[in-house]
Amino acid sequence: MTVWGEHLVPVAAEWLMRDSVTARWRRPVCAEAVGRVVEFGFGAGANLVHYPDAVSEVLAVEPSRVAWQRSSQARAQFGRPVTLVGDDAAALDLDDASIDTVVSTWTLCTIGDLPAALDQARRVLRPGGAMQVVEHTIPDTAFGVGLAKAVQPVWGRLAGGCHVDRDIEAIIADAGARWTRRPTSRFISGTIRWD
Ligand SMILES: C[S@@+](CC[C@H](N)C(=O)[O-])C[C@H]1O[C@@H](n2cnc3c(N)ncnc32)[C@H](O)[C@@H]1O
Repeated sequence: MTVWGEHLVPVAAEWLMRDSVTARWRRPVCAEAVGRVVEFGFGAGANLVHYPDAVSEVLAVEPSRVAWQRSSQARAQFGRPVTLVGDDAAALDLDDASIDTVVSTWTLCTIGDLPAALDQARRVLRPGGAMQVVEHTIPDTAFGVGLAKAVQPVWGRLAGGCHVDRDIEAIIADAGARWTRRPTSRFISGTIRWD
């Protein structure tokens, strides 16, 4: 990996997505989390301060060692176990039906094989468990879609694999999931269930 991808992208993402900018979208997503939580794209741990007491532990899936190291203070302050369990949400080494909540904040846009990651979420969630998500998604105008597709090759390289041309809601529907959208401006946010 390049210096850009390994060192600068995680730091830039942490700054761009700092709590003072993103808390209003993180809060409703994290508020729904309970029990044993798997977080796809844990980053620098910005969601930890928003988890309710009902969360007993967080299992982090994060490929960036820089981001993981930078989360050390947030992990220490969380006061409950936070364990790095893998580096790819599309290949989880976790038992079937062993998780209460899967959380993903601005990560479904970046995971290389999103259908496989959603299949992993379905597999590890216990019956009644749910996935909580906030994301950007493909624009809703033909012009916007054309622009997103045009900039994607450059944007993807600059932004650590982020896809601005990915129709995330369509991929969720293709995964056989039920998507309940919560009202938000600017981003899409909601709950995914498979039962
Ligand atoms: C835009 S950042 C969001 C970080 C964090 N969730 C937040 O809300 O601040 C996307 C994160 O997804 C991680 N990521 C990239 N590919 C991944 C994959 N295949 N599985 C899990 N996480 C991945 C990146 O390293 C990065 O930390």
